[in-house]
Amino acid sequence: MKNKLFRFAVIAERDNVIEPGKELFNTIKGEWQSTYFRNEHPVTIELACGRGEYSVALAKMFPSRNYVGVDIKGDRIWKGSTLALEQQLSNIGFLRTNILNIDFFFGDGEVDEIWLTFPDPRPKKRDVKRRLTNPRFLELYKKILHRDGYLRLKTDNTGLFQYTLEELQMRSDLRDLEFTEDVYQSPLRSECFDIKTRYEEMFANKGEKIKYLRLRFR
Ligand SMILES: C[S@@+](CC[C@H](N)C(=O)[O-])C[C@H]1O[C@@H](n2cnc3c(N)ncnc32)[C@H](O)[C@@H]1O
Repeated sequence: MKNKLFRFAVIAERDNVIEPGKELFNTIKGEWQSTYFRNEHPVTIELACGRGEYSVALAKMFPSRNYVGVDIKGDRIWKGSTLALEQQLSNIGFLRTNILNIDFFFGDGEVDEIWLTFPDPRPKKRDVKRRLTNPRFLELYKKILHRDGYLRLKTDNTGLFQYTLEELQMRSDLRDLEFTEDVYQSPLRSECFDIKTRYEEMFANKGEKIKYLRLRFR
């Protein structure tokens, strides 16, 4: 608990974390390129970023893109924020919020790409609405994504992956949907740049197959 409080106090002072209590938290919508990054590079967001290793690795790999890691947990965001500072990365920031409110922070079409990395599977029926690929979340992603932007999901969880595919198959507003139940053995592997999140590392080491899908909305 002491450690958590320390981390909360640290991120409260950091410019690379936007969270409740900071002015930008209420004004950033539509302003990521002009006010936050101060460039016109496309913005990729990673939802459920946890400790942010994936966004940090992408930001390092692609300096002419901008990255925003989003998670509700401040102590996890502290880690990503720290990694970004240690590596002197100016093309990445972190947003602490519930993803349910994501359209409060990004304008229509403001996001060029969304990564959803190892979201909690929420296997209980009563939690279906909290799954981050439930239709109410998909509608939000569609709203903030640029019309040519990709939504990309990685998960180890077969139940969540099947659920997501079933939800997607019921929609008529998708294009370029491709998926694999074993990304390391698939040509789609190159789209993931061989970067592993913390959870991916854990599950892959246990021998779980990593599933991946991507799509665009019409
Ligand atoms: C299983 S962890 C995955 C972390 C990271 N993506 C990885 O692969 O290592 C899921 C993350 O999603 C975050 N999360 C779950 N539901 C959320 C929500 N509705 N809004 C924001 N963050 C959420 C949790 O705080 C947690 O950090």
